[in-house]
Amino acid sequence: MKRYRKNIVAGNWKMNKSTTDAEYLANDLCRDLAELRDVDVVLCPSFTSLQAVGKVIENTLVRLGAQNMHWENGGAFTGEISAAMLRDLYCHYVILGHSERRQHCNETDYEVNAKVKAALAATLIPIMCVGETSEERKEGKTEEIIKRQIEGGLDGIDDGLDGLIIAYEPVWAIGTGDTATPEQAQEVHEFIRILLQTLFGDDVAGATRIQYGGSVKPDNAKALMAQPDIDGGLIGGASLEARAFVEIVKSAIPEKIPDYKEDDAPSVSS
Ligand code: PGA
Repeated sequence: MKRYRKNIVAGNWKMNKSTTDAEYLANDLCRDLAELRDVDVVLCPSFTSLQAVGKVIENTLVRLGAQNMHWENGGAFTGEISAAMLRDLYCHYVILGHSERRQHCNETDYEVNAKVKAALAATLIPIMCVGETSEERKEGKTEEIIKRQIEGGLDGIDDGLDGLIIAYEPVWAIGTGDTATPEQAQEVHEFIRILLQTLFGDDVAGATRIQYGGSVKPDNAKALMAQPDIDGGLIGGASLEARAFVEIVKSAIPEKIPDYKEDDAPSVSS
C-alpha cells in the first residue's frame, strides 16, 4: 500500500514564547522555509501569537495551525476558542487530542471526536494525536490503545477524512529525549495504516499522512522520515529553535531521505 505522500512537519510551540519572540522565530524560519515546496510546514504557536505569526507567514508557503479548539461554534464557553475563530485568523490546521491535553485536561476520545468533526466542518485540517504511555507499552497494550483512540476519535466520520493527519506520539517519548527507534515507530505507523484501511478503505489509508512525534531532533529525524509509513513529524522542543527545526524539515525532503526512489514520485499528495 506504499503511496507517495508529501511529508508534513509541524512545530508545536506549546505554551512558550511571547508574541514578540514568536514573531522573531517565525521570521527566522521563513528565511529558510518560505518557498519550500517539497515538505508542508506548519507552525502552531499559542493562541495569543496566532495573529502575529500569521502576519509573518502570510505570503509564504508556511501554514498556520492552532494547538486546540472547542467543538461548539460559539456561545457561553468562557475561555474557549471555536473553529470559526481559528479560520478567521487564517489557520489551516489544528492539533487535537494532544497527550498533554488528554493527561492534564482529561480530554477524552469522545471530546476529541467532537472536535475533529467540528474542525472538518469548518475546513480546518485536524492533526489528531494518539499514543500510548510507557506503562501501556510495557503491558503490551500499545495497539489496543491506539485502536481505541483512532476508532473513538474518528467515530461517525464516514465521508473520507478530508486530509486529516494522524500524529503518533508515544507519551513516553514526548519531551523526554527518549525517542522511539525508527523500527518501533514504523511498527505502530504500519498498524495505524492497516487500521485506516479497514475503517476507510485503501485510498484513504494510502493517502492519509501519519506524523511521528516525540523527541524528534536533527540527529534522529532522517532515520525516522526514511520509514515507509512515517510522513513527517510533530515537533515540540526542537521547534522552538530555528536552526534545529529547519534541519528537521530539510531531512523530510524526499531526495534527502536515504533509499528514496524515483518510483515513489508524487501521485497522491494528501
Ligand atoms: P517533543 O514534543 O518534540 O518536545 O517531544 C512533541 C509533541 O509534544 O508534539
